[in-house]
Amino acid sequence: MTESANDGPAAPITFVGGKGGVGKTTLAAAHALALADAGHRVLVVSTDPAHSLGDALEVPLGDEPVQVAPNLWAAEPDADTAVRRRIAQVARDAERAVPPEVMPAVRRHLEQAGASPGMAESALADLLVDRMEEVGRRWDALVVDSAPTGHLLRLLNLPALLTPWVVGLARQRERARRAEAFADVVGGSEEEADPLTERLHARRHRLERAAERLRRDAQVRLVTLPRRMVLAETARAVEQLTGAGFRLAPVVVNQIPPGEAAGPDTAEALAATRERFARLGTVEVPLQDAEPTGPERLRRLAALLAPR
Ligand SMILES: Nc1ncnc2c1ncn2[C@@H]1O[C@H](COP(=O)(O)OP(=O)(O)OP(=O)(O)O)[C@@H](O)[C@H]1O
Ligand SMILES: [Mg+2]
Repeated sequence: MTESANDGPAAPITFVGGKGGVGKTTLAAAHALALADAGHRVLVVSTDPAHSLGDALEVPLGDEPVQVAPNLWAAEPDADTAVRRRIAQVARDAERAVPPEVMPAVRRHLEQAGASPGMAESALADLLVDRMEEVGRRWDALVVDSAPTGHLLRLLNLPALLTPWVVGLARQRERARRAEAFADVVGGSEEEADPLTERLHARRHRLERAAERLRRDAQVRLVTLPRRMVLAETARAVEQLTGAGFRLAPVVVNQIPPGEAAGPDTAEALAATRERFARLGTVEVPLQDAEPTGPERLRRLAALLAPR
């Protein structure tokens, strides 16, 4: 890493992305270690439900960040816990908005929604936003292991998707409150702030800030392999992410077999990869003899991550 601790890292937030098994977790851990060694306080989190960040770092990890090296903290938040927290929060909001006799039905509905991939994604997005809000305070840099391209794109679009919904809901709430105040001559002061509407607006603002932050402070580091099919998918991810306003770091071409072991297909795919990403730049990481786990081997990989 070239930047000094005083300057802050080039991009405070790094998402490591790419196809299954290319080496995202390994390189996220290596990148985080390199930033920590350069003097930044770094948090590396995994968003993959099948966590392996702890295996890469050779340290058991859990929901809350634990220190794993000087300046480096790591966490593997549990998606199920995040979903349960999110459902409990929605239920609390609903209790303020609907009559008590409707609540059992609302709860049944939430239980079902809890099993949907959408809820897991939304819970995960909330969790990431929490961590992003800590950058600049608790951490100098955040490294996120493996957010699928689709999730990243939706993160940026969440505020836009949420806005009409929040505005519509707020309008409905206003109407309902006016009707209540009319029926209830004793109580129901119209001047009283409505906690649910306020929460909805707060949530929208939070997501808007997060999307703004992502465009300004985040970079996506895509990992690819010297293979035609992986190149094609990486190229699509580059197009989509750039189109959405993400900044891209040089593409990491991982697991490059040594010259004598690389067949003509590999050599051709490598040349095509270099050419395709010439503008972004590429970083080439050779296939290691031993699985690169644990701080020492990860540091050796990290030394190769500077773009050329
Ligand atoms: N440069 C390398 N040389 C040798 N082995 C590597 C290299 N990079 C990664 N590996 C190994 O390849 C395997 C897959 O790596 P890793 O788990 O980091 O990939 P991933 O993209 O996170 O996978 P998943 O999509 O399943 O999360 C691991 O066993 C890892 O140790
Ligand atoms: Mg992984």
